[in-house]
Amino acid sequence: MNFFTYLLHLAGSGAGAYLTARQIRDPLTRPNLLAGFQLAESGSVPFLETLRDRAAKEGDTWLAEKLDRHAADERRHGQIFAQALKRLNKQVIDFKKLAENQPKEKTQANRRSPFFQAYFEGYSPESFKPENIDWIVFFASTYILELDASKDFVRMANVLPEDEPNSASLKKALLSVGQDETRHAAYLYEALERRLPAAAVVQVTDDWRVRKTNALLAMVSNLIQKGGQTQSLVQDGVSPEMSDEKPEIADLNEHSTAKSLEAA
Ligand SMILES: [Fe+2]
Ligand SMILES: [Fe+2]
Repeated sequence: MNFFTYLLHLAGSGAGAYLTARQIRDPLTRPNLLAGFQLAESGSVPFLETLRDRAAKEGDTWLAEKLDRHAADERRHGQIFAQALKRLNKQVIDFKKLAENQPKEKTQANRRSPFFQAYFEGYSPESFKPENIDWIVFFASTYILELDASKDFVRMANVLPEDEPNSASLKKALLSVGQDETRHAAYLYEALERRLPAAAVVQVTDDWRVRKTNALLAMVSNLIQKGGQTQSLVQDGVSPEMSDEKPEIADLNEHSTAKSLEAA
C-alpha cells in the first residue's frame, strides 16, 4: 500500500465511523442501520455454508471447521440485529413485495452495490460463486472487511448510552458481535498464512486494502450523485417468523462500514 492510499483509507474509515456512530445514536436513523446489518449478516450465511462444504470436500478440515463456526456466528449476528429491531417495534421490509411493485430494471439496479462493484472490480459474478471463488481471494477480501467491521462495531457500541434499556442492550450486543468479527479476521489471516509465504500475505492484504479504499470512494461519490437518498430498509411491526429471515438482496460477502453506509 502506498502512503497516499493509506491516507485515503484513514479518511474513508474515519468518515464511515463518524456516520455509523451518528446513525446508531439517533433514534430516527438507528432502525435503518440495524436493518442493513441484519440483511448483511444473515445474507452471508448460505455463502459461508457452501464454502464450508467445499472445504470439507477438498479435505481441509481446519478450514471447514472455521467456516462452520463463522456461518453460525453470522446467523447469530443477524438474529441479534433482528431482535434489536423488534425492540423498536420495527422489522426489515419485505423485499419480495417491494420487487413486485417496482419495474425490473430498478430492482436490479438497487441490487448492484457500487461498493461491491468497485471492491470486486475485474472479477465476474461467476467467479464469485462459493463453488468457484479462489480461496486466496475469499480469505483476503473477507479479512479486510471483517477487520474493519470489528472496529466499527466497537466504535458504535462506545457511543451508545447505558442509561436507556434498548441502547444498553444494543451496546452489549455490538461488543459481542465486534469480538466475533475480530476472530473471523484472525482465522482468515491464518488461512492466508497456511497457503502463502509471508511476503505474499502482506502483498495480497495490501491489494485488498487498496480495493477497499477505492470502493469506499466509489460508494461515497454514488451517494453524493443520488443527493444522499437511499432506500429505506425497515417497516413498522414485528415479523412473525423473525428468526428465520432469508433476505434476498444480501451481498455475497460481508457486512462493513460500507454496507451500513448504504443502508443509511
Ligand atoms: Fe457478523
Ligand atoms: Fe464476521
